[in-house]
Amino acid sequence: MTHDVTRRQFLRTAGGATLLALSPDLATFAAPELIKPDKSLPLFTALPYVQPGAGSALVKGQETKVIAWQTTTTPAAFELQYGPTKKLGMTLPVQTTPRWSGDVEDGDPRFNYAANLNGLDLNKPYYYRVLSNGKPIAEGRFTTRKPRGQRVRFVAFGDNSYGDISDRAIAYHAYRAQPDFVMNTGDNVYDGGLDNEYARYFFPVYNADVAGPRLGAPLIRSTPYYTVIANHDVHDKDPAKHPVADFDKDPDSLAYYTAMYLPLNGLAQPPQPTPTLAATTNGREQFQQFSHTAGSRFPSMANYSFDYGDAHFLCLDSNIYVDPTNAQLQAWIEQDLAKTDAPWKFVVYHHPAFNVGDDHYKEQHMRVLSPLFEKHRVDIVFNGHEHSYQRTRPMRFEPMDTSRASLLNDKDRRVPGKFSIDRRFDGNAATKADGIIYITTGAGGKHLYDPEHTNQPEKWRHAEDNNADYVVKFVSDRHSLTVIDLDAKSLSLTQIDEYGQKIDQVRVTKA
Ligand SMILES: [Fe+2]
Repeated sequence: MTHDVTRRQFLRTAGGATLLALSPDLATFAAPELIKPDKSLPLFTALPYVQPGAGSALVKGQETKVIAWQTTTTPAAFELQYGPTKKLGMTLPVQTTPRWSGDVEDGDPRFNYAANLNGLDLNKPYYYRVLSNGKPIAEGRFTTRKPRGQRVRFVAFGDNSYGDISDRAIAYHAYRAQPDFVMNTGDNVYDGGLDNEYARYFFPVYNADVAGPRLGAPLIRSTPYYTVIANHDVHDKDPAKHPVADFDKDPDSLAYYTAMYLPLNGLAQPPQPTPTLAATTNGREQFQQFSHTAGSRFPSMANYSFDYGDAHFLCLDSNIYVDPTNAQLQAWIEQDLAKTDAPWKFVVYHHPAFNVGDDHYKEQHMRVLSPLFEKHRVDIVFNGHEHSYQRTRPMRFEPMDTSRASLLNDKDRRVPGKFSIDRRFDGNAATKADGIIYITTGAGGKHLYDPEHTNQPEKWRHAEDNNADYVVKFVSDRHSLTVIDLDAKSLSLTQIDEYGQKIDQVRVTKA
């Protein structure tokens, strides 16, 4: 909390004005420069950050990015300049939308700002500058997505931000890896995915002005951050005790749909959309404001897909209000996976189908999608939810009884079935995988589960799964993140702990 206070004081002293670092490159990173204090400017509650925007397929000249930020409600006339060099060149209007943040009683109204950059080239650096009342107040740089044939590095982690020191260490190591982008596996902020939780736990850590293992890093001002919706985003309970985003109780619910600007190629209306409650006058007003700010992102952004280099990513809502046996949802998944020609196919959702930890073992509903993923030759599935690192061997799964998977809002959704496990693959000498590797990378900052399971294979078997030895690595005595490097033919997965040490590494190659 000391850091937050210091930062707040700093931003106030600066009148909200700060020149941001220009590059994610460690060598060129510079501490922010104060400019003359200007009390007429609002206070930033989120410094400018880069988001992927609506773009999904890699199309030359049609790349998108969004530069977004959030402030207190002091009026300010913002504009955004951007261009391929520091001389910039283009000026964009900035969209302003109101957003409540905090409690019903003593919350803070905010403004969310966003500039939509469309028609960009692929694999090009762009510079941006945010001006307020005509004065430059922040500058940054990002690189657009790489087309096929270019090497890509991304980092993955989930279950991260709640103000703990480990959140900052993982943010720092994610930054040090200098990834092209971040793929978060959900439960991005605790406890309820609220706007004020993003302001307190997310933005100060992943957009810190200075990089350090106890500070976080200036990551998202230059690096696009993808995430998936998860259980803590929908953490209130309706009268039947089912998960719901309750705008009566938490008027700044569902910041996933307002703080994030992710691809919009999902089902406009998913069969089981994110449930909301807004019964009181205040709740209804706040829900209306949320809907206005989220626009077409709600509820469509629950599912989406995108390409990056030689990889295709399919990102799904795996919350317990979703029925993964639903025909409409499965048809959308099938057409998405069928139409991509990417050499690598990844699926990202929060609730791990093949997890041997104790906390969420019975939430197996996503297992019913494995045959579909296998049919379309998905390579890796990335999950969170269990606060540990777990890697399976390459495997195939044949569900024997899917009846419980469609039991909505039930945490016992076990799906028994038959396992075919590739025990020949070792990720070192034998690198061709027969089946899907499932990675749970939920040790991104929040307290760890099952630390005693680390390096204890006898604890990684469940009688209900016929004691199948599908999990081959389990590390839960420390926080960690996943670093993936890939080209069209080969991929390396490295797990890095919160001290920067390598704790696992495998290579996967294509035939
Ligand atoms: Fe979770």
